[in-house]
Amino acid sequence: MIFWGAKEIMARIKLGVLASGRGSNFQAIIDAIEAGRLDAGISILITDRKDAFAIERAKRHGIDYLHIDPKEFKDRDTYFSHIADELRRRGVELVILAGFMRVVGKSLIEPFRNRIMNIHPALLPSFPGLHAQKQAVDYGARISGCTVHFVDEGMDTGPIIIQAAVPVFDGDTEESLSDRILKQEHKIFPMAIQLFAEGRLEVVGRKVKIKDYSVIDDALING
Ligand code: GAR
Repeated sequence: MIFWGAKEIMARIKLGVLASGRGSNFQAIIDAIEAGRLDAGISILITDRKDAFAIERAKRHGIDYLHIDPKEFKDRDTYFSHIADELRRRGVELVILAGFMRVVGKSLIEPFRNRIMNIHPALLPSFPGLHAQKQAVDYGARISGCTVHFVDEGMDTGPIIIQAAVPVFDGDTEESLSDRILKQEHKIFPMAIQLFAEGRLEVVGRKVKIKDYSVIDDALING
């Protein structure tokens, strides 16, 4: 007789990952899945750049990938509507922006409302947009960090799921602060996805309620 444990019979949530470059967050998600810390499967990686290193990572792990070139579409909405079709076709339930450096169009946001997560390398609402780590260093912030949030129509404005804080030291450069923040990104992104997979996230207005909040206390603030 074959005995199936609860983990094996639980349907794994299907992820669609969008990335533009190096893909270290994509790798952290793959690693969390392979280590059994994340009950998810990656149905597709979509990149907007042909040379994104994330594609190499997908190949190494046998994950399907697509390069969809924005230049081949007449405008942003047509581009993102095509991406939405590709995601739907594969039954994707949660869209992950893992270093995807484009403002997402409403033709993707509307069909995947509260089902698109982004990671941003600052404690939002501080330092949205590009070069967030440089913004924090230049501003003289003493603490920065990273934020996983749901995506809405604004620039890095959607409901916040998890944040992790890191110190900013005298003498930090954009690079040294980016490295410190990235370590936390790799922890909190898989955690936020796992919370979603377990059905523990509820969006109420602009706030995200997390069931059994205390379980992840140490990820909300750390140093
Ligand atoms: C990460 O630091 C991520 O937070 C940031 O780009 C980097 C991608 O690295 N994203 C943004 O700035 C989005 N506004 P990765 O390709 O190695 O994951």
